[in-house]
Amino acid sequence: EKAGFDHFMLKEIYEQPKAYRDTMGSRIASDGNSVTLNELTITPEAIRKISRVHIVACGTAYHAGMVGKYVIEKMARIPVETDVASEYRYRSPIITKDTLVIVVSQSGETADTLAALREAKRCGAHVLAITNVVGSSVAREANDIITTWAGPEIAVASTKAYTSQLIAFYLLGLHLAQTLGTQTAGQITEVITALKELPTQVEEILGQAEALKVVAEEMAKHDNLFFIGRGLDYAVALEGSLKLKEISYIHSEAYPAGELKHGTLALIEDGIPVIALATQHDLLEKTVSNIKEVKARGANVLGIAVEGELELQKSVDSTFVIPKTLDVLSSALAVIPLQLLSYYASLARGNDVDKPRNLAKSVTVE
Ligand code: F6R
Repeated sequence: EKAGFDHFMLKEIYEQPKAYRDTMGSRIASDGNSVTLNELTITPEAIRKISRVHIVACGTAYHAGMVGKYVIEKMARIPVETDVASEYRYRSPIITKDTLVIVVSQSGETADTLAALREAKRCGAHVLAITNVVGSSVAREANDIITTWAGPEIAVASTKAYTSQLIAFYLLGLHLAQTLGTQTAGQITEVITALKELPTQVEEILGQAEALKVVAEEMAKHDNLFFIGRGLDYAVALEGSLKLKEISYIHSEAYPAGELKHGTLALIEDGIPVIALATQHDLLEKTVSNIKEVKARGANVLGIAVEGELELQKSVDSTFVIPKTLDVLSSALAVIPLQLLSYYASLARGNDVDKPRNLAKSVTVE
């Protein structure tokens, strides 16, 4: 069943190139100039009336939703809010008929996400579900579905479901942009061209997994570490930190890099590992200056950098290089080394990688 891999998680990490290809599938026109989400019933007129988007989910799916917020706001220029599903209903969210509520759920059975979906429908919103399980409760009750074709995910720690959710958000962002005319034809083709390169680029990253094993074994000796990043990199930092906590039981915090000096910098001491994500070109200089702040306090910094960014490489202790892509798509590459770091750190600590303590794959209680 594990197809020669030691754990389901590792198998699922290696299945990501296929999950990306299957999720893009026939949704990209053969000329590579547009996306077609034929499964959606929402009309172009209804899309033009959307005044706000709410993205609601739990855990890793929520982190995918944070990436989705950046992508939709950037591509379609519609304001987006993200909420953790267990909080959404209790804050009297402003849900109107022109609100598009996107729920994200791998299993399609998460109780809080389902309850949020029902509340959104009750208020008259159009609900779009991004889910990996055809026929799940979320899929059955939503008005529209984008299925992520990641295939069954067995390991408790989500990997290929998360990255397939990112692909779904890229496709949705493009679909909204095409309908609203918020991106030029040239810009849309540029994103699609880069999107199609992602699966091969993930394969390139997976080819360097051994290098991460060494780093993870060193990390596993520590009890505390930090992930920092700005913009989309912050959303990925949150996911990297959750993955690490979940299976290695090492405490970590993800921080927007510029926010550290407002308190958390007090925790940086000699030798503490800091993983700094720096894939966003317009924020690079700022991130480098935040890296210098932690280095000055003795942190040992691993940079996740895009190929060719030598300035960043000079400011960190070690670097893991990811292939070049558009900034808006970088999360689908930057998260892969973080998944591998968690996997190897969990192994180094002798934990049950696929079934971490206290956790269940599907959370059907509120
Ligand atoms: C973490 C993880 C969880 C789930 C969360 C939502 O690796 O898997 O945080 O993402 O429980 O589950 P779904 O997506 O099934 O609604």
